[in-house]
Amino acid sequence: MIRREITDLFTNNGCPNFSPIKGIRSDQERIVNEIINLVNESPEVAEELAKIRTNLRWDYPHSLRTAVLFYDLTEQEPELLDAVGTETVIAAGLLHDIGKLWMPKKILYKPGKLKEQEIELIKLHSLYGSMMLRYLEDKYPDISGIVFEHHQDQPFSYVHRSDDPLVLRLGALLCLADQHEALSSSRSYKVAFSQELSKQILNGRFPAMVKETDYLISRYGNEKN
Ligand SMILES: [Fe+2]
Ligand SMILES: [Fe+2]
Repeated sequence: MIRREITDLFTNNGCPNFSPIKGIRSDQERIVNEIINLVNESPEVAEELAKIRTNLRWDYPHSLRTAVLFYDLTEQEPELLDAVGTETVIAAGLLHDIGKLWMPKKILYKPGKLKEQEIELIKLHSLYGSMMLRYLEDKYPDISGIVFEHHQDQPFSYVHRSDDPLVLRLGALLCLADQHEALSSSRSYKVAFSQELSKQILNGRFPAMVKETDYLISRYGNEKN
């Protein structure tokens, strides 16, 4: 089931295509296969992902796609993968938004602009998610820290950030993958942005990650707009 879902998400209208060639390239198919294998072999990841699938209708496809983009990005920095392990990277990508299970749906899926207090509440999902995933730390070291850092461009003023450079770097890559996925997919309230527009926005938000952004844009993104 998950194989078909991931494949569909990358080939259907409004979702980022595997780029530049329509369809899945062999290296990207390998990434998809490794993600599918982890879900099949890890009852914990499968169980947590099923909660997202059941309860967070927008975030399930987003989570699958973000996992692909994040894993692809980290493969370009093999020392990161060696240090933390492939399994941790895939599990963190799939489950990065699991803290949204604690957010009120009325606010999470509210059409239109959120109020200041609502934004502050939604921001908490990275902290809640990191706490929920602590029980997986033995199997997936640093998953909790990486998930906490996935909105590191919007830090909390009252929670200490990690001082581990490995966790911070992985968090930065997850943050970039997460935002590119969100920009280049359609949502109830917006169309999918073009690769060009996504690139402009991401370069403004992540000026130190232009190379990584170019890499993502060259491989994934909405080519139709
Ligand atoms: Fe998030
Ligand atoms: Fe996300």
